[in-house]
Amino acid sequence: MKKIIVGNWKMNPPSVEEAVSLARAVAEHVKHPMFNKNVEVVLAPPFIFLYKVYETLYGGKVKLAGQDVFWEKAGAYTGEVSPAQLKNLGAAYVIVGHSERRALGETDEIVGRKLTAVLEAGMTPILCVGEPADVRERGMEAAKEFVGKQLEVIEHKVFEGIIAYEPVWAIGTGNNATPGDAAEMITLIKSLVTSYRLPIPVLYGGSVTSGNAGDFLNREEIDGLLVGGGSLNAEEFGEICRGA
Ligand code: PGA
Repeated sequence: MKKIIVGNWKMNPPSVEEAVSLARAVAEHVKHPMFNKNVEVVLAPPFIFLYKVYETLYGGKVKLAGQDVFWEKAGAYTGEVSPAQLKNLGAAYVIVGHSERRALGETDEIVGRKLTAVLEAGMTPILCVGEPADVRERGMEAAKEFVGKQLEVIEHKVFEGIIAYEPVWAIGTGNNATPGDAAEMITLIKSLVTSYRLPIPVLYGGSVTSGNAGDFLNREEIDGLLVGGGSLNAEEFGEICRGA
């Protein structure tokens, strides 16, 4: 199966010029004749850079994602961005429920509404789930129970999207889950959620670098990576993508 590698730029880089040059450099890696055709590369820039990055990537293979979205279609929602607006700027995917959004107060109910809105707009949601450190300290079974609960936002257990397993304690910390633990959790996720186009892709995220990407990508249970810090340098991100 195809591996999917998503670069989540978060609130970086500081200027549109840097966003364009990062996107251009990533596109160069993906265009290389030796680049693995079975890897789908997706970039998630901040909203304000989406259009320029879309123009930069136009006609190439790199896809675009929104980092978040609002659930309403239009109206008086100052500061929000609708699914249709994201689609119009070229986004094929939308990250929903990232732990950094949840830390700012996003509840499972909001996550559920966003998933529905993204699917209705004809884009693919990338739903993020993962347990915090205090839960993981209680063991793998506690972590599985926590993630299982987060997946209850998916109605009838059928989901036409992508899931990213990102243990909160592994995000931006330099501590990653072992490939074995990540694969175990991903196998559980795949047993809890199905789709009409089985099997559902489940990615791993959390302190992925060029040094450990191959260890995750070599596991057949793991369908790709969600990369934060490692996606802000085109050389490093290119190396991560080549690990597949
Ligand atoms: P990180 O972030 O790779 O910097 O740990 C991953 C993410 O939050 O998506």
